Amino acid sequence: MRRIMSVGALALVLAVVAAVFLAAQQPKPVVRPAPPVAVPPAAPQPVAWMELARTPPMGWNSWNKFGCNVSEQLIRETADALVATGMKDAGYQYVVIDDCWQVSRDARGVIVPDAQRFAGGMKALADYVHSKGLKFGLYSDAGAKTCEGRPGSNGYEDVDARQYAAWGVDYLKYDWCSTDGVDPKIAYPTMRDALRKAGRSIVFSMCEWGRSQPWTWARGVGHLWRTTGDIGPTWQSFVRLLDQQVDLYKFAGPGGWNDPDMLEVGNGALTAAENRAHFSLWCLLASPLIAGNDVRQMPPEVRDVLMNKDVIAIDQDALGAQGRRIRRDDLGRGASVEIWAKKLQDGGYAVALLNRSATTSEPAPIAVSWQELGLRYDAEPTVRDLWTKKDLGRVKGTFTATVAPHDVMLIRVTP
Ligand code: GLA
Repeated sequence: MRRIMSVGALALVLAVVAAVFLAAQQPKPVVRPAPPVAVPPAAPQPVAWMELARTPPMGWNSWNKFGCNVSEQLIRETADALVATGMKDAGYQYVVIDDCWQVSRDARGVIVPDAQRFAGGMKALADYVHSKGLKFGLYSDAGAKTCEGRPGSNGYEDVDARQYAAWGVDYLKYDWCSTDGVDPKIAYPTMRDALRKAGRSIVFSMCEWGRSQPWTWARGVGHLWRTTGDIGPTWQSFVRLLDQQVDLYKFAGPGGWNDPDMLEVGNGALTAAENRAHFSLWCLLASPLIAGNDVRQMPPEVRDVLMNKDVIAIDQDALGAQGRRIRRDDLGRGASVEIWAKKLQDGGYAVALLNRSATTSEPAPIAVSWQELGLRYDAEPTVRDLWTKKDLGRVKGTFTATVAPHDVMLIRVTP
């Protein structure tokens, strides 16, 4: 009996030892990091949503000229002027109030507009803009505060989107100030979804300044995405932003556009030639065309730039290709010329011959061969000068023009 007991005890001990041994062999639970949050895929976007920006959006925004000095009077007068000047007929349709229209949130969290500056309220203002056949836009921010310290939308996306829809907002510019610890790949889709849920067609303009290379992930999230910091009304600012667009052409197309920032045409001390160059290149880039000047008092030479229908047609071309820099020639002593080309729906090209040299230099001859564009070397397309509005007839092989410093020649080449 004792012997049987001791065999049982031995078996028990062996079983315990085996269990402990086996347990020690089990892989330890691995603490895995959370999977990265996937950017919602571009594919299943509703067609109607993408159609909101089949071509680059066009309109006007208060910021570049007026900063925080916005009011319902400015917006009404601007809407009137967009119609009276023919800007609306030329395609500029969104009237967007940038920062500073908002002051606080009420007890329910609903955003409160500045009651002094917008005494009639946003609904009445949107109705007025709509009554002119235009569309109405507002500005907010993905962080806690806007760049001017007004309440941002972080945590209030649904409340804000519902409010915008109730007011009749058609366009939202969504900025990136006060976003410490906020991931743009979460914040922007969150607001996009809130806008969709609110049930109104609203163009979504992402203003993230290019920090996270939004061109690589924002198609299907926003209709346009800023690729740079802020523009200023100077030649230096224009060429600095232009240089940042060189490699981005492959990311633009119907439904989603690179945004090198709003237009400064008519602002600061930009000359007529500089305004022409800035506008030409923004159109070559298939950039959104958001005017930023005082359209109530546009000198004729500014009007002629912003309303040149042939040039706007380059920007709005149905193919939706963004132009590329096809050559840059350094001429020494800081002087340089560049050739940019944009493929068009009809098989032709828009070509900009840009002289970046100092204003003190002589005008420079600039030549472009059709072969550089991708046509046959001996092609003989027709050429139209889009600024003088003159047809130059058929040109064989190479086109040459003399261009003044800080100016551009913009031609349409049709095989
Ligand atoms: C940022 C944006 C600008 C403008 C201001 C408003 O700087 O990039 O376009 O909206 O904020 O505060």
